[in-house]
Amino acid sequence: MATRDSWVSNLGFVLAAVGSAAGLGNIWRFPWLTAENGGSAFLVMYLLLIIGVGVPGLLAEFVLGRRGKQTPTGALRSLIGSPEGSALGSFNVVTTIVMLSFYSVVGGWILRYTLVSPVGAYFGQPAQYFGQMSYGLQAVGFHLAFLAIIAAIVFFGVSRGIERVSKVMLPAVVVLLIGLAAWTMTQPDTAAGYAFYLGFDGEYLAANFVNILGPAAGQALFTLSLGAGAMLTYASYLEDDASLPRATLVIAISNTVIGVLAGLIVIPLLFSQGIDPGQGGPGALFVALASVFGSLPGGAVVATVFFATVLLAAVTSGISLLETPVATLVDEYGVSRRRATVGVSLLIAVTGGGLALASSVFRFVSGPLVDIMLSVGLFAFLAIAGWILRTEAIEEFSAGAGRLDALATPWVMTVSWVLPVVVLFSLLSTFTSLAGISLGLNGRAVVAITGTIVCRIVVASATGD
Ligand code: TRP
Repeated sequence: MATRDSWVSNLGFVLAAVGSAAGLGNIWRFPWLTAENGGSAFLVMYLLLIIGVGVPGLLAEFVLGRRGKQTPTGALRSLIGSPEGSALGSFNVVTTIVMLSFYSVVGGWILRYTLVSPVGAYFGQPAQYFGQMSYGLQAVGFHLAFLAIIAAIVFFGVSRGIERVSKVMLPAVVVLLIGLAAWTMTQPDTAAGYAFYLGFDGEYLAANFVNILGPAAGQALFTLSLGAGAMLTYASYLEDDASLPRATLVIAISNTVIGVLAGLIVIPLLFSQGIDPGQGGPGALFVALASVFGSLPGGAVVATVFFATVLLAAVTSGISLLETPVATLVDEYGVSRRRATVGVSLLIAVTGGGLALASSVFRFVSGPLVDIMLSVGLFAFLAIAGWILRTEAIEEFSAGAGRLDALATPWVMTVSWVLPVVVLFSLLSTFTSLAGISLGLNGRAVVAITGTIVCRIVVASATGD
């Protein structure tokens, strides 16, 4: 077999991983979730979860990827030395396909908004415009166009495609966001927006703690690209001299900065036009913000820059989702990268096309289904890194880590005992709200702790330790 592609530099890896993390999750999902969940209270909770769950969880995925040196299927199979590993890895691959199916539809919306913003096509009736274009044959068309863009990048491989593109696109996203945030500061009537977003409201947080926890945890996983094996795949192209803990910190901080910057644009702008951002939901960016652009002088220019920025961010995330199934075909079945890219893209053309036609299925897939699949995937990574490998995981964590290797043992403890409970807890929250079961905070905590212990025992008896 030909040698596997790898990153040209560790910086290239970090940029590509930040590119994967920073995407629609930061610019589209984060601002409206924040607005819906009390502004600053959500922001605080989200930051805590990024540090407490996101960072150690991402490290687990990186450790497995670099140790396994393959895509999820092969990596998990060889790491745990049994065929169940293949099944878990295949579940990850399915997750990335499901994710990309919906992600590419939203990417298509963004592509369309970028193209029509210069003429302000939606300025007159933003809600109607969004309603007409978001589902149906035109949405399928733009989904296919977005998919074609990312397929063209993945086609060229890791170093010549993904790394090269990320090195240009990601810095562009940051510069454009800073410019847009600065422009937002010059707009009138934004003070209330900044206060809502940045002024800490401890009372709200205390009163709504439980309700905020679920969405904040879900967002922390989604935004760091955790639980689908995409980060595992990126780490599999990494050399042993890279410091995983340092890379993880850089990635988590950069991604958070990008999310916070997006909030500094979207939330004050909505407030400036007297729009309650909590009302917008998933359509916030396309309806509420679009109408803000329509009513500002020079709005067409700003809108174009804004949607182009979102498009760049969505592309660098989309490629990480496509890379995982493509690389799996390459690693596992020896299919050529080009054929694999075409094959997987055709599949997603169909599955995503279906979602673009069926709004109710789209909502289920992009919300609860994705939350559940990512949580299950992350739970498996934690169990493998913390329970099954443990010593090997510590070793891999420490390789190239320099002084940060002192964190290896606390990290593995967190991954073994704290994170599984948190992930099960948020999984339960999603399930209970889907099924309409009411199970209070304590009930969920008891089930999550018991569930973790039961899983630990099952894993111990299966692996004989
Ligand atoms: N993190 C990306 C975003 O915020 C989305 C994403 C890309 C993702 N790859 C992923 C989410 C893998 C989960 C798993 O838009």
